[in-house]
Amino acid sequence: MSQLEFRRHRRLRANATIRSMVRENHLHKEDLIYPIFVIEGENIKNPVNSMPGVYQLSLDNLDAEIDEVVSLGIPAVILFGIPAEKDAQGTGAFHDHGIVQKATRQIKERYPDLMVIADTCLCEYTSHGHCGVVEGDKILNDPSLDLLARTAVSQAKAGADIIAPSNMMDGFVIAIRKALDEAGFQDVPIMSYAVKYASSYYGPFRDAAEGAPKFGDRKTYQMDPANRLEAFREAESDIEEGADFLIVKPALAYLDIIRDVKNRYPVPVVAYNVSGEYSMVKAAAQNGWIDEKAVVLETLVGMKRAGADLIITYHAKDVARWLEEK
Ligand code: PBG
Ligand code: ZN
Repeated sequence: MSQLEFRRHRRLRANATIRSMVRENHLHKEDLIYPIFVIEGENIKNPVNSMPGVYQLSLDNLDAEIDEVVSLGIPAVILFGIPAEKDAQGTGAFHDHGIVQKATRQIKERYPDLMVIADTCLCEYTSHGHCGVVEGDKILNDPSLDLLARTAVSQAKAGADIIAPSNMMDGFVIAIRKALDEAGFQDVPIMSYAVKYASSYYGPFRDAAEGAPKFGDRKTYQMDPANRLEAFREAESDIEEGADFLIVKPALAYLDIIRDVKNRYPVPVVAYNVSGEYSMVKAAAQNGWIDEKAVVLETLVGMKRAGADLIITYHAKDVARWLEEK
């Protein structure tokens, strides 16, 4: 017995084996969801300048990408589409032969077991770049719901396994749930972007998806970054309306919210490690300022520790590779 009375925490850190035995949280490749940007056209593989390693892909380049995702053991992709033409209603979002619908059919035919998640929104398809119907400088709530419901049904018809509405109109979950049920898709789950902040971290994504608003901002429909209770109101209404998963977005500046949502709601919680979070790490790594692999793995296990069950991340392919190395 030592004279001084204190605890020896370092006993459980003494070597790699004991550390692995007492490790509380783990990152698995099954946790990962990989975002893919599909674009109309042929022979396109446009690098997204603000997101090194991310490309807009035409359908003829999609199979190679999906083969890689599957071979790495990543269980799911989330699709974003860049249509050939945009209009005020965003009709490209709900065409039976829209870009996401075609991509979904192509992927499901090749890999029936890969989960295809369809992002359900209008901003990539509207000429004004907003996520709903616009009148003057207002984004209208209720008239947007029908368009979103039609989008979700057309995505389910194309074979999407999960519908992920990201538009932040009130009532979008119930509108989509009803439309899916009526169309016979009772078994298609909704992964709701329930808690989505009006974040500056989405900048690089808007380059990738070509969906930046042409006027104003998204602050009348996305949440104020300063708010916490508002997250509970959003999560609660989405649960009541029938959401099967809750997404918290962004992740890094909102780890407290991930923990809160995980503690309160008995559904899988998804962290969206968004574009700006990815680009910051990539930029620092390219400059040699940080160790990319170590920083990414530390960041993502932090999201798991905060309570995320799943993580949507542009790092997914690298992470799957790194996990294999260990
Ligand atoms: C579109 C949408 C956005 C993101 C996902 N879906 C952008 C936005 O709301 O402006 C952001 C994803 C990212 O930054 O990685 N509703
Ligand atoms: Zn949108």
